[in-house]
Amino acid sequence: MAKKLFIKTHGCQMNVYDSARMADVLAPLGYARTETPDDADMVIINTCHIREKAAEKVFSELGHWRIRKHAAQARGGDVTIAVAGCVAQAEGKELVNRAPFVDLVVGSQAYHQLPELLARAERARVKGTGGRGILATDFPPDSKFDHLPDEISVAPGPVGYLAVQEGCDKFCTFCVVPYTRGAEYSRPAAAILREADRLVATGVQEIALLGQNVNAWHGEGPDGKSWSLGRLLRVLNDRFAKTHPHLRWRYTTSHPREMDDELIAAHADVAGLMPFLHLPIQAGSDSVLKAMNRGHRAEDYLRVVEKLRVARPDIALSGDFITGFPGESDADFEQTLKIVREARFAAGYSFKYSNRPGTPGSLMGRQVPDAVSSERLHALQALLQDLSGDFNRACEGRELDVLFQKPGRQSGQLIGYSQYMQAIYVADPMLKIGDRLPVTITGGYANSLAGEIVRREAA
Ligand code: 5AD
Ligand code: SF4
Repeated sequence: MAKKLFIKTHGCQMNVYDSARMADVLAPLGYARTETPDDADMVIINTCHIREKAAEKVFSELGHWRIRKHAAQARGGDVTIAVAGCVAQAEGKELVNRAPFVDLVVGSQAYHQLPELLARAERARVKGTGGRGILATDFPPDSKFDHLPDEISVAPGPVGYLAVQEGCDKFCTFCVVPYTRGAEYSRPAAAILREADRLVATGVQEIALLGQNVNAWHGEGPDGKSWSLGRLLRVLNDRFAKTHPHLRWRYTTSHPREMDDELIAAHADVAGLMPFLHLPIQAGSDSVLKAMNRGHRAEDYLRVVEKLRVARPDIALSGDFITGFPGESDADFEQTLKIVREARFAAGYSFKYSNRPGTPGSLMGRQVPDAVSSERLHALQALLQDLSGDFNRACEGRELDVLFQKPGRQSGQLIGYSQYMQAIYVADPMLKIGDRLPVTITGGYANSLAGEIVRREAA
């Protein structure tokens, strides 16, 4: 009988990808993915470490799983508990020590080893030598991508994620990613093309290319030369243009320093590339950007935006922002508000600076009081809401290309995403998840849009 695997995914889209790949790795062992925790023979908690209290949240979630495991053991069964992802990578030792009921702790570069780790855990359990969980958090010398199975065990639904790049060498002084995900690595183009073929065969209509620094991708092309992401997008688009003309593409997350001309040009003439870009800037003051080790100034960012708008005038720009980085003054913060207005962001994610042990930022003097960071955060969020409201209102009356992906809050309502990555709510009895239709926008608000289906042919 198939064993049931429940995966709880926290954090970013890369974790969503990793969760899918962990299910693929375990499928040959007879594990079928379930969405119901109560059924699980095995659980993987795929964790995120980007902001504070990450480990505490994992421990409290593990408490529930410990109870489930003990109940299963009392019935003569078991629930295998694994912790994966960035908390596993960064705090693995503490996890196995503080939560000895956890069977496996597996880091972000080691999850292709899950079958042998499970076998080791099982041997230890049978021999009675178990006690602490097995810890696998080394960065192996060869890439996990070379060892992941070809088969996709569960069709991803309307949107497929494809990791093309992983890791980060930028070392922004606030960020744990270079330590949890390791050095930048670009997968070769041939492996990416093969994985795209498999995703397209499952029926996906949108593919998001993923990487912590996705636009730093410079993989080896089939011609033996180093390709850029712009070239890769062009080749991917052309590969499916005849057979799947409606396939759409995006990529995330990008770094402003890596927006080269070939990639910007792709926004002008790669037909399937969505007019959307998530391009974090983090702050608007040059002295804060310098202290953050971002490697660009505000003006460099604006120049990239200008070029993008020439290439694709309707592009929707989204960003990440941090308030209260050490040393940020009121005048510095004003510069963040200024650049947000100048770049006319259509969407944005803003965070209060969170002091992460082990990062250079944690050792900087002049930490900003929490109340000040909060106040700045609220001001920034209000401005971002105004701007996204403006962007969304400007879409009223237009017909957008919407891919429906999940149920809405009200019954009969579905949520889809436009080519600009706006959330669109439509109530229509004929509508189902996976539909891709032109939607006429009837209302544009700060966080969503309302629309109706006027025509039923594909967008
Ligand atoms: N504090 C606050 N926000 C952070 N981010 C990354 N590290 C931190 C931190 N220490 C934010 C950045 C990044 C996003 C994924 O999370 O804005 O772009
Ligand atoms: Fe973190 Fe900076 Fe790397 Fe992005 S570019 S993952 S913020 S270190």
